[in-house]
Amino acid sequence: MSTTGEGDVARFKRQAAERAVEAIQPGMVVGLGSGSTAAFVVHRLAALRAEGKLTDVVGVPTSVGTEELARASGVPLTTLEEHPVVDLTLDGADEVDPALRLIKGGGGALLREKIVAQASRRVLIVVDAGKLSPRLGTRWPVPVEVLPFGWRSQALFLEGLGARITPRWGPDGALYRTDQGNFILDCAFGPIERPEQLASRLEARAGIVAHGLFIGLTSELVVAGPSGVELRR
Ligand code: 5RP
Repeated sequence: MSTTGEGDVARFKRQAAERAVEAIQPGMVVGLGSGSTAAFVVHRLAALRAEGKLTDVVGVPTSVGTEELARASGVPLTTLEEHPVVDLTLDGADEVDPALRLIKGGGGALLREKIVAQASRRVLIVVDAGKLSPRLGTRWPVPVEVLPFGWRSQALFLEGLGARITPRWGPDGALYRTDQGNFILDCAFGPIERPEQLASRLEARAGIVAHGLFIGLTSELVVAGPSGVELRR
């Protein structure tokens, strides 16, 4: 029997990212996701550039962290102002169900990630097999980004929807701030029966800026695990 340790997970993320990067064509505008899997995408793109390949590809970063990583790696960047339509976005996820619905936002970048995904012709989600789930909410809470104004009211609203709320804290001991200066409430709903219905209720509430349910946005999924790398549609 084989076990899956920390090192294996990182290897699966890298393998999935390297396969996903094969979808990038010369001249593309590419959405660059956030998190450790998306970082493997940036590193691979930088390595290909060093070999003289895909040198005319430009990236749209989905977070300040990814922007800094891309700059440090020499990957040229653009903005949605310059390129409001993105050819292909490569991003990670925290949980993926069989219908390719996602929970995202573990790294706090859910709002920009969703804006870039919605602006993309094609969204390729890249995960290790441990992210696969029979039902969203089984293994990960739904991150909800809220305005600081009235955030405790939003927490009560979310509890009323059945969530157990954990406000996200930053390393400085203060409430975590997103790249937009908002807070994140991690909402444990347990297995979510109707993610579309929950998404609609969250979207109807003033003060909720974004939520981590990504529905109908995934074009393809690249999964890497002990049995290899697989593409799913
Ligand atoms: C960040 C995200 C990430 O894609 C998600 O948290 C997965 O991260 P990792 O690749 O590090 O496992 O949604 O907001």
